Amino acid sequence: MNAPRHYLQFNDFSCAEYDYLFSRTRWIKERFKRYEPHHPLFDRTLVMIFEKASTRTRLSFEAGMQQLGGSAIYLNTRDSQLGRGEPVEDAAQVISRMSDIVMIRTFEQSIIERFAEYSRVPVINGLTNEYHPCQILADIYTFIEHRGSIKGKTVAWVGDSNNVCNTWLQAAEVLDFHVHVSTPPGYEVEPERAGLYGTGHYAHFDDPMAACRGADLVTTDVWTSMGFEAENEERMRDFADWQVDEDMMKVANPGALFMHCLPAHRGEEVSAEVIDGPQSVVWDEAENRLHVQKALMEYLLIGKIEGDCA
Ligand code: CP
Ligand code: NVA
Repeated sequence: MNAPRHYLQFNDFSCAEYDYLFSRTRWIKERFKRYEPHHPLFDRTLVMIFEKASTRTRLSFEAGMQQLGGSAIYLNTRDSQLGRGEPVEDAAQVISRMSDIVMIRTFEQSIIERFAEYSRVPVINGLTNEYHPCQILADIYTFIEHRGSIKGKTVAWVGDSNNVCNTWLQAAEVLDFHVHVSTPPGYEVEPERAGLYGTGHYAHFDDPMAACRGADLVTTDVWTSMGFEAENEERMRDFADWQVDEDMMKVANPGALFMHCLPAHRGEEVSAEVIDGPQSVVWDEAENRLHVQKALMEYLLIGKIEGDCA
């Protein structure tokens, strides 16, 4: 049996594979909008394992698999044996004998890596403490829809150097753009944890305004990610000057977009004026989770489909 292909980090795929996935996404999305059925995954089963909460990820994977002709099963740690200490390696062997593809949202990246090692079928990272590759797949597709290629562009990240930030940094290396990161002291990017090769696509700025100057996209995320709730009070104080507001959007390039993976907290990491303002594309960004992940599942299970992409 051939080893399955997994999607555990953004840099698991090459630039050429992303070119294919983005054009395939456009084809799948347009067909779907025209109500034309596309069922390449008929009879296939996706298992979704959630060890953390979700709205968008669950919805987009479940709806996406159904739209591709397959079905999806939801498991969580509360009411499966996963929460009662069954080894990840055992769970992987059993679950992957009864399904065709698995999506996991969990804590440490090492958990999903162990699962993938013992899985007979492709495993997709639906968010870990370290990465959120499906989110950045959707974000970059959204950027391309609005502004064209992201190559050579500048993305400003303001706030916590979390899983979403790490994935932007990896994406910059794979797709050749720049990320300007501004975090409060003590929350800086850890290049090794972010999985960076040090290719010079990333720069740190103490001042968030400086990070936003000349950016083509300004983006942020919650100050307290899932699993870090105990630090919430301290983080509210530490991040108070790192709210994306209209002044930051003003120093970005004219036509700069604003993105947020959602859920958002207006008045904390972003002002209501920005997230609800004309530069914000957060609803397109959320919708595109559906379309990119359909292309991703199709690619992992069937491979590249020649001919009907453009
Ligand atoms: N952006 C995102 O992954 O949202 P959920 O936590 O709702 O899945
Ligand atoms: N950084 C956030 C993203 C939520 C989609 C978290 O991990 O909670």
